[in-house]
Amino acid sequence: MAITTQQLIQWKQQGRSIVALTAWDYAIAQLLDAAGVDLILVGDSMAVVLGYQTTLPITLDETIYHAKAVRRGVKRAFLLVDLPFLSYQESIQQAIHSAGRVLKETGAQGVKLEGGYPEMVETVARLVKAGIPVMGHVGLTPQSVHQLGLRQQGKTQEASERILSEAIALEQAGAFGMLLEHIPADLAMQITQKLTIPTIGIGAGPHCDGQVLVTSDILGLAEKSPPFAKVYTNLRETITKAVQDYALEVRERKFP
Ligand code: KIV
Ligand code: NA
Repeated sequence: MAITTQQLIQWKQQGRSIVALTAWDYAIAQLLDAAGVDLILVGDSMAVVLGYQTTLPITLDETIYHAKAVRRGVKRAFLLVDLPFLSYQESIQQAIHSAGRVLKETGAQGVKLEGGYPEMVETVARLVKAGIPVMGHVGLTPQSVHQLGLRQQGKTQEASERILSEAIALEQAGAFGMLLEHIPADLAMQITQKLTIPTIGIGAGPHCDGQVLVTSDILGLAEKSPPFAKVYTNLRETITKAVQDYALEVRERKFP
């Protein structure tokens, strides 16, 4: 049985931590799903494995292309897709059109979009009314990298109050979950206690209802990773060694 938004909310109530990771193709998605990951995000962080420096260049068509590949590998996990930069900020109509394409063309179960300012809260309310499950994303929002950088957010009293009120407003607009990125652990704890929907943290401390990391970071596939990522294995080294062994054997006519 595929995991639903109701299941995620129930897990929060039960105190069962939600395990989330990102995926960008069939092979990775299939491995994560089979390993028991609860929520798979086709994040715009796939910019990294596509060779971009920021998430900004990713298009809606690229997102859909990758989400379709991921969908084919996911049987159990909840499948969530990031709406890319400027595919939803222009107007409510644009957001419904983009999110609708993602759900209809990829078979994803929900979309995630960045920001909790009033216009975005209104957009989320309209998407939810239209039948599209939405996860909010507050704190560090990498689509605003040219304004925020990649620094931790919510460090002042004022900023932390703003982020808390954004999360509450997004929940009231009907979001089914809340991504908390790179904020102090005590702020994430406060938000997690205040909301009835699950919080998923990245660089937001241990008190969230679930955790997400970028898969290319945990696998050691990324050239560099943020300070809050944990690298569980070094695939760059493993792949380099395998390729060098193969190259040597071919050149020495040992293989085949
Ligand atoms: O694109 C992404 O990987 C994200 C992270 C916050 C998980 O949005
Ligand atoms: Na993202």
